Amino acid sequence: MTPIMTPQERILELRRQLHEHNHRYYVLNAPVISDYEFDMQLKELQQLEAVHPEMYDPTSPTLRVGSDITKEFKQVVHKYPMLSLGNTYSKSEVAEFYERVKKGLNEDFEICCELKFDGTSISLTYIDGKLVRAVTRGDGEKGDDVTANVRTIRTIPLMLSGNGYPAEFEIRGEVLMPWGVFEQLNEERERGGEPLFANPRNAASGTLKLQDSSIVAKRRLDAYLYFMLGEQLPAEGHFENLQAAASWGFKVSDLTCKCRTLDEVFAFIDRMDVERKNLPFATDGIVLKVNSLRQQKNLGYTAKSPRWAIAYKFQAERALTRLNEVTYQVGRTGVVTPVANLDPVQLSGTVVKRASLHNADIIEKLDLHIGDMVYVEKGGEIIPKITGVDVDSRFMIGEKVRFIEKCPECGTPLVRVDGEAGNYCPNDVSCPPQIKGKMEHFVSREAMNIDSMGPETIELLFNYGLVKNIADIYNLYAEDLMFLPRLGARSAENIVAAVRASRAVPFERVLFALGIRFVGATVAKRLARAFGNIDALMSATMEQLTAVDEIGERIAASVISYFASEANRELVARLKEAGLKFELEEETLQARTELLKGQSIVISGVFTHHSRDEYKEMIENNGGKNVGSVSKSTSFILAGDNMGPAKLEKANKLGVRLVGEDEFLAMLSAE
Ligand code: IVH
Repeated sequence: MTPIMTPQERILELRRQLHEHNHRYYVLNAPVISDYEFDMQLKELQQLEAVHPEMYDPTSPTLRVGSDITKEFKQVVHKYPMLSLGNTYSKSEVAEFYERVKKGLNEDFEICCELKFDGTSISLTYIDGKLVRAVTRGDGEKGDDVTANVRTIRTIPLMLSGNGYPAEFEIRGEVLMPWGVFEQLNEERERGGEPLFANPRNAASGTLKLQDSSIVAKRRLDAYLYFMLGEQLPAEGHFENLQAAASWGFKVSDLTCKCRTLDEVFAFIDRMDVERKNLPFATDGIVLKVNSLRQQKNLGYTAKSPRWAIAYKFQAERALTRLNEVTYQVGRTGVVTPVANLDPVQLSGTVVKRASLHNADIIEKLDLHIGDMVYVEKGGEIIPKITGVDVDSRFMIGEKVRFIEKCPECGTPLVRVDGEAGNYCPNDVSCPPQIKGKMEHFVSREAMNIDSMGPETIELLFNYGLVKNIADIYNLYAEDLMFLPRLGARSAENIVAAVRASRAVPFERVLFALGIRFVGATVAKRLARAFGNIDALMSATMEQLTAVDEIGERIAASVISYFASEANRELVARLKEAGLKFELEEETLQARTELLKGQSIVISGVFTHHSRDEYKEMIENNGGKNVGSVSKSTSFILAGDNMGPAKLEKANKLGVRLVGEDEFLAMLSAE
């Protein structure tokens, strides 16, 4: 008979099992249980932890979801500085490196060849097998403590398995955003009118610096580890240490190999230059490291980088072709993007005919002329870009490319915002691509969910003059629609039914659907909660808007300018008349009070009755503001168990009151 476990024992067992399943799933790609079973175990652990706060452990798998406390990153001095690598683009310099090492050592040596991951570097400290700290490279001497964010990365073990790991060590590696996640993220940002990340590297480092680790958790970052430091490492070879790290649960690339000769090194480089194109993440070269730690020590360091390693960077793939024309595209938010139209050319396996020129500054810097032979590159980005002009091949200079001054779609003079590189068309009321883009956003699933109205239908409706703005969608009749090309009676009925059903969409999604610049789904939710209805939001001042948690001046200014437009106000009035929801539902409203008005509240510790997110929502619904760090203007701390010692000390010093969970709930139930 299985002995009955205490809840505490069960918690420990579940944690151990979940750590193992996480590792099997994320690192080894070989899960042994279904996602459902995993979720059930995780749920059981969450429930047990909720009633046993004394079992709090920052390495618990339940904490991978992150928490949304705002934190300012603490700066941490690296125990061992984080150096960079000398790099080269030429094989002859690799040969010179090899010769230097040979001469310096004057004995046999091995070179460990690895991929150079194109992400952002991180240094992890483990004590007694537990992740205690994760710090960014920063300036190499000191970096930001991003431990809370790194804890959400599932390929980084919170607790090590196996044995033989040193009591304390550091392991360094690269945090990456896989291509698939990067593309999805940019699509979402485009829909929300937010600026796009140029490449997965920027997206990964931007994500690691987010203040809200629950958003980090959703971004599905990945990490490869490639360098171990400490006093008592398991082996004398770098490669062997990485293998040991893999056995403790770290993700280590299996495209790493030891070479004995320069020819073997070159063969590795050539092989990887092909294989890397099939990898799900970006790489920008190869790193070569002398394998023996003793030999590394003998070779030593220059002021900036080790003498025992070098990075060979892959030449970004480049092709030379003719620039025929520059055209301009207008996006949903009015941003105008110049596009180079080229003679078709082969690049990394695809034919490229168009490339992005990004903005006016880049055109000016390149001094582009029509007919120029230009270099097209596919670097860390998906969209190819023009990186240079072959000036020598200019025998007849064409017309100089000048950024247009008027919108190519509606003729409105373009505007350039100070400090931003982009030019945009301010005519958001009648510029066709802006209207069509706004409609696509309006009907999208996260917004009004009018799924029967795809981009082609919108194009059709627009071209036939049936819709000129989003409010016109509510004046469509099946009789008008069914005679449009490619739309039969059935599709017409479906569209009208979906439009009708969209009247039930709650206020926060309607607000998101309006497509106000910088107002994505989360911001819309915050604004809806804070103001309750559209009239209050429309008359909100800069001060009132920025008083809302996480609403900064940029968003506030965009909201004010949106509602300052007569046309937008009219649009809202028509949508209201059409029966859309412009205020919070009754039950959400009822939950709102002003009991905590004007109070800044810090949440800290572990709670029994509700989750942190729920408490945060309660604070906001009752007129309070949830802030991340304790200061003299903090009204009180909603304190659970195991409150962080630093916060506790600061609270005592500043005389900030601690309010327990029960007392807080009692405060809210007071009439
Ligand atoms: S080793 C002292 N190995 O490249 C040597 N670095 O310029 C420490 N990187 O900041 C670095 N892949 O972010 C090493 N396999 C790899 C790497 C790698 C990418 C990055 C790392 C570092 C930069 C060096």
